[in-house]
Amino acid sequence: MQIKTAVSTMLGIDLPIIGAPMFLVSYPDLVVAVSEAGGLGAMPALNYRTSEELRRGLSEMRARTKKPIGINLILHKEHNPKWQEQFELCLEFKVELIITSLGSPRSVIKEAKSIGSKVFCDVTTLRHAEIVAKSGADALIAVAQGAGGHAGAISPFALIPYLKEAIPEVPVVASGAIATGKQMAAALALGADAVYVGTRLIATPEAQAYAEYKQMLVDSAPEEIIYTPKISGIPANWLKRSLEKLAARKDGIHAASQPGASVLEDPNFKPETGLSVEAKSWKEIWSAGHGVAQIHSIEPAAQVIRQMAADYQKVKQNLP
Ligand SMILES: Cc1cc2nc3c(=O)[nH]c(=O)nc-3n(C[C@H](O)[C@H](O)[C@H](O)COP(=O)(O)O)c2cc1C
Repeated sequence: MQIKTAVSTMLGIDLPIIGAPMFLVSYPDLVVAVSEAGGLGAMPALNYRTSEELRRGLSEMRARTKKPIGINLILHKEHNPKWQEQFELCLEFKVELIITSLGSPRSVIKEAKSIGSKVFCDVTTLRHAEIVAKSGADALIAVAQGAGGHAGAISPFALIPYLKEAIPEVPVVASGAIATGKQMAAALALGADAVYVGTRLIATPEAQAYAEYKQMLVDSAPEEIIYTPKISGIPANWLKRSLEKLAARKDGIHAASQPGASVLEDPNFKPETGLSVEAKSWKEIWSAGHGVAQIHSIEPAAQVIRQMAADYQKVKQNLP
């Protein structure tokens, strides 16, 4: 099956579906599965502590698929002091898609373009979108309210057409609560040129997440997603059940006598900054977006991608 859009054509992929990079979750197994299914799989460079480990990860993916892949770079010295080295490796391996978050992408865009790679940039506001568009971004990733990880605060119903109207020349990838073909159809109807799928792909055997985390996605309702800056210093969406689990572990017997005790209510709980501490909090507290509402089982990533594309086609035909 092929679904042609500005983004699928630009990236040379069959389906305009990008497997979103996820800290401590997406590794080669997930990237390869998504790319082989016709989408494009991506992972954060920060999932590897050293450049040697990242090199091994890139070599492994190149050996396992000939399809395009993506790497996410956090362009912020404080959050990611090694981003330059990671970028050099992306250039060496001719990674087809570089996804930037935080920081200014200008120098990355110039060098990536010189070897034919595309650069997509995460944005949550029009101001940031205008800056990256001016720097030459090949597409904007509109990270809307309800997304897993560091989500934006604007509803996708407003954000996607808002960016398209203001910056019509740059394609938009919709990010946030896209877990089914219906949501993909809605995003494309709003003007998006592709979708970005994070949370749904955690509930797959290929995701490197604890079994308990995957099951929590199946069991959790969207009412149990908490949007707060208190965990990582930047507003993000978290699974309430994982916060409660941590609170219970920290307080031991005390928490058991206070059902629902949350680490967020603890006056001594402080947002964690600095990479190693942040990594620790992402390991203990699990992130997910509002798309948990549509996650009912753990399924292979290829099945998720193919089903989404097939359902998208059906929805499109059956619209009133
Ligand atoms: C567990 C988790 C980790 C994430 N880590 C990153 C990351 O390292 N870099 C990044 O740019 N986005 C990260 N994100 C955000 C995703 O790339 C994407 O924007 C988001 O998951 C899309 O929304 P959805 O989860 O509702 O599909 C993460 C999301 C989750 C759920």
